[in-house]
Order: sequence, then C-alpha cells, then structure tokens
Amino acid sequence: MDAQRLKASFAQVAEKGDAVALFFYSDLFVRNPHLRDMFPIGMSGQRDKLLRALGHIVSQVDDLSNLVPFLQQLGRDHRRFGIVAEHYPHVGASLLATLRHFSGTAWTDDLESDWTAAYTLVAKVMLEAADENALTSPAWWNGQVVAVERRRFDISVLRIQPDRPLPYAPGQSVALEVPSRLRHWRYYSMANAPRPDHTVDFHVRLVDGGPVSPVLVRGTQAGDRVRMGAPIGTLTLDESSPRDVLLVAGSTGLAPLKAILEQVSRRAVPPRVHLFFGARSRDGLYDLEDLAKLADGFPWLTVVPAVSDEPGGHGFSSLLQSGDDGIEHGNLSDVVARRGPWDGHDAYVCGPAVMVGHTVEQLTRLGVPRDRIRLETFADAQR
Ligand SMILES: Cc1cc2nc3c(=O)[nH]c(=O)nc-3n(C[C@H](O)[C@H](O)[C@H](O)COP(=O)(O)OP(=O)(O)OC[C@H]3O[C@@H](n4cnc5c(N)ncnc54)[C@H](O)[C@@H]3O)c2cc1C
Ligand code: HEM
Repeated sequence: MDAQRLKASFAQVAEKGDAVALFFYSDLFVRNPHLRDMFPIGMSGQRDKLLRALGHIVSQVDDLSNLVPFLQQLGRDHRRFGIVAEHYPHVGASLLATLRHFSGTAWTDDLESDWTAAYTLVAKVMLEAADENALTSPAWWNGQVVAVERRRFDISVLRIQPDRPLPYAPGQSVALEVPSRLRHWRYYSMANAPRPDHTVDFHVRLVDGGPVSPVLVRGTQAGDRVRMGAPIGTLTLDESSPRDVLLVAGSTGLAPLKAILEQVSRRAVPPRVHLFFGARSRDGLYDLEDLAKLADGFPWLTVVPAVSDEPGGHGFSSLLQSGDDGIEHGNLSDVVARRGPWDGHDAYVCGPAVMVGHTVEQLTRLGVPRDRIRLETFADAQR
C-alpha cells in the first residue's frame, strides 16, 4: 500500500466537493436500498461525514499508532447504528466506485489495489473492535432526563440517568439521539466525573438551524427519553503527568474540562489548575457561578472568566451584574497568553474550532510542546 499515492488520490477526488458525497450515497442506496433506513431522513449537511472521516484516515495511513485507536473507537461507535460485518463490503464497493468515477484517467490498477487494501484494513480494525466490545458492552444505553436547567435562552444543562452504568473517562463524549429526531445522533461531552448514581450532565448550546440542539435546549423536560452511544474521545487527563494543569474552555467547550476538573479535585494532592472560561458576552459565561464556588473551595484552582465582545450583556446573575468582577476582556487565547508562562503545564483546550486553533498557536508560541496540548481529535475529524 503506497501511502503517498493514496493521499494524492484522495486530495484529487476531494477537490470535486459535494458531488463526491452525493455520488457515494446515491451509489450505495441504489445498489442497496435496504441500507437507506439506517441513515437519517434528511442527510444534507452531514452527507460528507463518512467521506471526511476517510480523508482523515488516509492522512494518517502512515501513522498507525494514532490511526488504530481512532478506528477502534469508530468501530465500537458504529454498533449503535446496527452495522454488522456484511454491511462493510457494500460501503467498500460504493467507495471504490466513487473514487474511480472522480479520478478519471488517474485511476490505475495499482491505485485500485491500494484503495482495496486500505479499506479492507480499516474495516477489519473497526469490526474487530466492535466484536470485542460486544462481549462486554451494550450497543447503546437508554437514558431518562431527570433534570433540565435553562441557563440562558440558548444554553441548557441536562442531567440524564442511564439505564445501566456508562463507563467513561472525564473529558469524553457520547452520541445522543432524541425520539423526535431519530437517527440524528449528535455528540455531547459529559460535564462531570462518574458519580455513584451514574447520572451524567450535558451542557448544550443551541446552534441556529440545527436539527438536534434546539430540541435539547428548548424542547426537553424531565421524564423525556434519549439513547446514548459508546463514550468516545481523547481529551482525557494525563494521569501520569506531574505538571500543573491549564484548562481553556470556550462556551460549552467547558463541559469536558469541568469533568476533568472534578477528576483532579478527587486527587489526594491536586496539581495547580488554571481554568480560563470564555464567551462572547457576560451572560454567555453560563456556568460561572458554579465555577466561582469551586474556586472558593479549592485553593489550588484559579478561574479566569473572559469575554471577547460587548462589555455588557443581559446580566443573568448578581455575580455577573456586579461591576468590576474580575472578568477579563479580549479573545480567550490572548487572555490566556497574557497570564502565562504556561511552558510547565499540560494544556486541555475545548470550544469553537477557531478559538481552539488560536489557543494552540499561542501556547506553542509560548513554549508549550504540542504533545502537551490535548484537544478533541475525534471531533476534528468530523467537522
Ligand atoms: C466530540 C464532540 C463533542 C461535542 N460536545 C458538545 C457539547 O458538550 N455541547 C454542545 O453544545 N455541543 C457539543 N458538540 C456539538 C454537537 O454535537 C452538535 O453539533 C450541536 O449541538 C449542534 O447540533 P444540531 O443537530 O442542532 O446541528 P448540527 O447539524 O450538528 O449543526 C448545524 C450546523 O452548525 C454547525 N455547528 C455545529 N456545532 C456548532 C457550534 N458549536 N458552533 C458553531 N457551529 C456549529 C455545523 O457545522 C452545521 O453546519 C460536540 C461535538 C462533538 C463532535
Ligand atoms: C471504512 C469504514 C467506515 C468509516 C470510516 C465510517 C465513518 C463514519 C463516520 C465518521 C460517521 C459519523 C459518526 C457520527 O457522527 O457519529 C459514520 C456514520 C455512519 N455510518 Fe459509517 N463508516 C464506515 C463504515 C460504515 C458502514 C459499512 C456502514 C453501513 C451501512 C456505515 C453506516 C453508517 C451510518 C448509518 C452512520 C450514521 C448516519 C450519519 O450520521 O451519517 N458506516 N460513519
């Protein structure tokens, strides 16, 4: 298998844009109408998920130590869709047909055998992980909403009780499905470390025009049912590290970092932790009251709130209404950089892609080695 040839081939095909995904799914469903029901009814906007993931996979085909865990997680995660071994050759055939179609004269026998070998390997790793996982874990968890707190018109905190323990590491996420949006699975990060009663909190922000987040934020109440897939994600605490911890959260990117903070707080001797929590406006700092309480209780924790846009906002709580309340102004990455140095820290960053990108740039510029900065890489592969 020639990694460079595969990368060049994928790049050439990807240039053709949306047509590639459209061709792929049409080919798949025309040849295998029975597979159509496994996918959401409306597929616009997410049609390219599978193909984009393939792009990510191809880009790492010569870095198996990173790629294999990603594929194992993907394989385990596919159990919730009801995917079994016999489905894989159908997807493989449509993928090959798509690549062949868009490659034109660049398609050769060698390229075809490279792609066949790559897909066979990917499918094998995914399926083996799924089979192994099936021995110990359900394909999904049923959950019931036990509490909803509306923090702002577009942000809610939901507490969900799974029907059986959901084993996860703080920092991870699960895909959620709500009954009114069947097969529209969306990822949300658990915002707490595992509890004895197994309940999990999710911080959800409404994305304008999205199918699922408005239902969760505005239309969900205690008693409602959801389904959850297997926990995923690599934004987890490096337990072996002796270094202090820097957490940088933009908006609901706070959720996984709050879970990590809770995990740190259970240590006999916690490291020093700086948590930067940023939003556009003050009332976007939807969890600041709780964070302020934590900072009061933990001498090793410093919380720095930051707003990037307007100085005012709707003033949601008395804490936020007070005048000079320690809230920094500026882009979160600049605020973090101002408060450095961070070169002795492990950093964990979560939030909108642009904010994450700028923060990583600033931190590396300030001497934090890239391998000490953890992000949500699974998410990157899909967005
Ligand atoms: C690993 C992972 C963890 C996540 N954790 C959380 C979480 O804890 N809380 C949370 O609120 N969301 C989280 N998300 C985002 C979440 O999965 C949904 O995408 C989001 O709730 C919107 O869902 P939707 O169905 O309404 O719209 P979608 O169909 O998902 O998105 C509609 C459009 O909005 C864009 N979009 C999606 N999310 C955002 C965003 N945050 N900001 C700007 N544009 C966006 C999409 O690219 C798309 O174009 C996470 C995503 C991933 C991959
Ligand atoms: C190389 C093999 C495959 C890769 C890389 C891959 C990748 C992906 C990715 C990244 C997603 C999005 C996950 C999410 O949002 O939760 C996805 C979703 C999905 N995949 Fe796969 N997949 C593969 C094989 C298959 C096969 C064989 C099937 C069988 C039909 C399948 C069916 C689905 C379905 C039904 C979804 C959910 C629908 C959606 O949200 O788009 N996948 N796949």
